[in-house]
Amino acid sequence: MSQYDPFAADYDLWSAEMTEDVPFYVDLARDASEPIVELAVGAGRVAIPIARETGKRVIGIDRSPAMLAVGRERAGGLPIDFREGDFRNFQVEEPVELVICPFRALMHAPTWGDRRRVFEAAAAALRPGGRFAFNVFVFSPFVAAHNHDTLERLDGAWQRIRHVPADNRIDLERGRDDETHGVISLSWLTKSECEGLIDVSGLEVEALYGWFDRRPFDEEALELVYLARKP
Ligand SMILES: C[S@@+](CC[C@H](N)C(=O)[O-])C[C@H]1O[C@@H](n2cnc3c(N)ncnc32)[C@H](O)[C@@H]1O
Repeated sequence: MSQYDPFAADYDLWSAEMTEDVPFYVDLARDASEPIVELAVGAGRVAIPIARETGKRVIGIDRSPAMLAVGRERAGGLPIDFREGDFRNFQVEEPVELVICPFRALMHAPTWGDRRRVFEAAAAALRPGGRFAFNVFVFSPFVAAHNHDTLERLDGAWQRIRHVPADNRIDLERGRDDETHGVISLSWLTKSECEGLIDVSGLEVEALYGWFDRRPFDEEALELVYLARKP
C-alpha cells in the first residue's frame, strides 16, 4: 500500500479549490507532441482534461495504486496510460516534449536527493527543447502563523494542519468522522532550491510565473509556476 492510498476517497474534496492550473497545463500540452508525461498523476485531475481537450496520449506516473484506480475508472476510453511508479526514477520509452508535475506534488519529495532524482529523471525523459513544467507553493510564514494547528472540516472529512519549521515540512493529518486516515507531508521548496534543481539537472529556466494566468512572479506571489527547458 502506498502512503497516499488512504486519501484517495476524499481527494476530490481537498483538491476542489484548485482549478486554475488545469487550463495552464492543457495549453502547454497543446503546444507539445504526444505523449505528455505527468508525474504524480493521481486520479487524473489534470491528465483527463489534457487527453480530452487535446486528444493527445498521456503517460501518468504515480505510486499510489488507489489514486491510479480512480483515475483509470474516470478516464474511460481516453488515451491515458496510468502507470504505477516513483517519480524519482521513472523512465519513458522515447524522449518526450513535455513533462509536467502539477499541484505541488514535488513537495512529496522530502530531501534534496529525492528532488534531484526527480529533476534528473525529467531531464533524461525530455528531448532537446522539451519542457518540464511544475508548480509548488511559496512558503509564507504569515500563512503558516495563521493556519498552524487549525482543523478544517469539509462534508464530514477533516484535516489538521501542523507546521514543522525545523524540517521545512507541513503535515496534513486527514480523516473522516472518528476515523484518522493518516498524515500527508509537504516539504516546501524555496525559489532558489527550485532553480538549483533546474540547474543541476541540466535544464534552464524558461519562465517563472506567480500564478497560472502567467502573471509575473513578484513579491506578492504565493505560487512558483515554472517552465524549465532542456537546451
Ligand atoms: C497532490 S496529489 C496530485 C495528483 C494530481 N497530479 C493532481 O494534480 O490532482 C499528489 C500525488 O503524488 C503522488 N506521489 C507522492 N509521492 C510520489 C512518488 N515518489 N512518485 C510518484 N507519485 C508520488 C501521490 O500518490 C498523489 O497521487
